[in-house]
Amino acid sequence: MAIVESSVKVSLTERSYDIVVGAGLLESLGRRLQALGFGGKVGVVTDSTVAKLYGARAVRAIKSAGLDGHLIVVPPGERTKTLRWVTRVLDELVQERFERGSVLVALGGGVIGDLTGFAAAVYLRGIPFIQVPTTLVAQVDSSVGGKTGVNHPLGKNLIGAFYQPKLVLIDIATLNTMPRRQWLGGLAEVIKYGVIADEPFFTYLEQHMDGLLKMEEEAVQHIVTQSCRIKAAIVMEDERESDRRRILNYGHTIGHALESLGKYRTVIHGEAVAIGMVHEAGLSYYLGICKQDLVRRQGDVIRRTGLPVTLPSVSFTDLWTAMQHDKKVAKGRVYSIFPERIGQVRIAPLERADCKRWFLSRRATVVD
Ligand code: NAD
Ligand code: GLY
Repeated sequence: MAIVESSVKVSLTERSYDIVVGAGLLESLGRRLQALGFGGKVGVVTDSTVAKLYGARAVRAIKSAGLDGHLIVVPPGERTKTLRWVTRVLDELVQERFERGSVLVALGGGVIGDLTGFAAAVYLRGIPFIQVPTTLVAQVDSSVGGKTGVNHPLGKNLIGAFYQPKLVLIDIATLNTMPRRQWLGGLAEVIKYGVIADEPFFTYLEQHMDGLLKMEEEAVQHIVTQSCRIKAAIVMEDERESDRRRILNYGHTIGHALESLGKYRTVIHGEAVAIGMVHEAGLSYYLGICKQDLVRRQGDVIRRTGLPVTLPSVSFTDLWTAMQHDKKVAKGRVYSIFPERIGQVRIAPLERADCKRWFLSRRATVVD
């Protein structure tokens, strides 16, 4: 059967690139590198889990197009997203004599995409890289938009660069091997796109959630493509996050705070975002910014995925303090993303007093 392929263009003048989406596209990796004009060494950076599943196939696809594919394998997980592992990748590039015309391929989840993109940005002051994301989070979010980087011991993503890939090649068939919990976490980001920017897409999610939970290919292809389209449009408006791109942080003000209070262990990122969206919508309703219908529709869709919605037991002071450490804090004020209606949000400062009043009364306003 012919592969159904959809594509999205990210137009950023000389940094423009395509996102292509389809089941089975990994096999076309070499041909696509060739079509972009790459002819020499190709470093495929991946983690040991993804290497076992897809490493050999990626290298075979590269070699069959006459290019020189070389696997660079790092350990899986967030703990690899450090300068130390960037250095290890750079060491290998130097030893293998990678040149300006060489290219890196990020094959894996968001950790691999962020790490590889950053290594590509700094090696020889910048060599090209392409993203081949293999988790839902990476396919709908981290591979698109050019945010690359690593963590610092004092905070997540504190070191990095905006550096766009030359191509995002999305093989949705790779999602079939993902752990269920990670897949559901990715769905939180997909739901987020509907709420912040696209009411018809949100309605599609309401109508197709059963198929999505069974990972039906047509539905997966649609949500990945549409999520990329929405993210691309936002990035094209505001590549460096001076304003509009901040709407992508909906659900993350509370979500990040919960992640840091749980020391990144009790909830995974997507779960924290799901809880964050439920409560940020509740806050928006409390402040009179949206109607209760939005809180209900969003809550219904999130609940159907099985993602958590309940704010863990936490004091207001701890929550507010954790919210202060978020990147959305500017000049000492916490900025939050308030949904106005499905498909439209507003960025506004959140006053401590308002947040506290909502926090103390939330049993009455949030259906959790
Ligand atoms: P991840 O990269 O750690 O991947 C999760 C786990 O899934 C890993 O253990 C990995 O080995 C495994 N895995 C990957 N693909 C698989 C597959 N197809 N089958 C089976 N297992 C597979 O995590 P993630 O959720 O993909 O990404 C999270 C990271 O992305 C965080 O570091 C976050 O900061 C970053 N991120 C970046 C951006 C951005 O714009 N740059 C956006 C969102 C998230
Ligand atoms: N994931 C948020 C952003 O790319 O801006």
